[in-house]
Amino acid sequence: MRRGPFRNGERVQLTDPKGRLTTMTLGVGNTFHTHKGSFAHDELIGAPEGTVISTSGGVEYLALRPLLADYVLSMPRGAAVIYPKDAAQIVTQADIYPGARVVEAGVGSGALTLSLLRAVGEGGSLLSIERREDFAEIARGNVQTFFGGDHPAWELRTGDLQDVLPGAVEAGSVDRVVLDMLAPWECFEAVEHALAPGGVLLAYLATTTQLSRFAEDAKDRGSWTEPVAWESMVRGWHLEGLSVRPDHRMVAHTGFLVTTRKMAPGVNAPIRRRRPAPGAYSEPVNDFETADLAADVGERGVSAKKVRRVLRAHEADRSRRAEPADGETAAPDPQD
Ligand SMILES: C[S@@+](CC[C@H](N)C(=O)[O-])C[C@H]1O[C@@H](n2cnc3c(N)ncnc32)[C@H](O)[C@@H]1O
Repeated sequence: MRRGPFRNGERVQLTDPKGRLTTMTLGVGNTFHTHKGSFAHDELIGAPEGTVISTSGGVEYLALRPLLADYVLSMPRGAAVIYPKDAAQIVTQADIYPGARVVEAGVGSGALTLSLLRAVGEGGSLLSIERREDFAEIARGNVQTFFGGDHPAWELRTGDLQDVLPGAVEAGSVDRVVLDMLAPWECFEAVEHALAPGGVLLAYLATTTQLSRFAEDAKDRGSWTEPVAWESMVRGWHLEGLSVRPDHRMVAHTGFLVTTRKMAPGVNAPIRRRRPAPGAYSEPVNDFETADLAADVGERGVSAKKVRRVLRAHEADRSRRAEPADGETAAPDPQD
């Protein structure tokens, strides 16, 4: 944790009067230039966080150390990064705790790596596996810049997780595995070998087809608990005087998260006692099943039982209308 005054070589985040962010690295003797003047880095070195500094043109900048969430959005990228909102969910729902032994793949730009390292701390371990050498190097640079050097709990290896993991850890020695890649189901065998019983596997997936494949493969293998899936949406708010309302724009989709836990060796997960949703595993066989399936995909559906009840009620109404009540005569048929 970096505290105290700004030091030479540290990253500083500047906020201009319009709220725009710029990140720079402090260097003795360097100058920060804008189209409205400049200031010397030396004016910031030794100053406390939360300092306001003015350029020679009179523009004021607020200087703070970047938070992890700020840094992730401004750091150099190779592959797409996991956004802070999803990283927060991953740390909590995959139950990443100080001292945990964690494996992640792929590493991409290393955004999630930063959150995982923060969560396991210096007493834990994070083995990050990335198949692309160039992405691994980008991630290494981002991690070193953020932590100001190597993190003692971190090991980065290149290759496919399926090939690297079996030789990298002892069977059942890993507490948590996080997968962010195109085809995480290809890693089930290696992850089953590495994870301790009760260990959590979390996958981050961009599409519903990937989500379905991952969940069905996990169920077919029998060695995983029932997968649980969700997504999160975060809507920012505009806060200005009495103009307090949701932002007009938001990031509507990033990815789906799914977790499952490893069963004890040789023990199959109990089969859930529930009827599968009609049409979930095959073509619907009648209109009522089509209605149920439509409900599953977000259309308003209605059960076959409810439709039969409504039809019976209509029939009863029709019969009542046709029968004259006591003391009444049936209304004459206008055709007569
Ligand atoms: C979307 S990126 C990961 C982004 C990263 N989680 C972050 O927050 O910056 C997906 C990465 O997975 C890597 N990858 C795909 N399949 C892999 C596998 N089987 N083993 C290791 N890495 C893999 C890709 O090369 C790519 O860099």
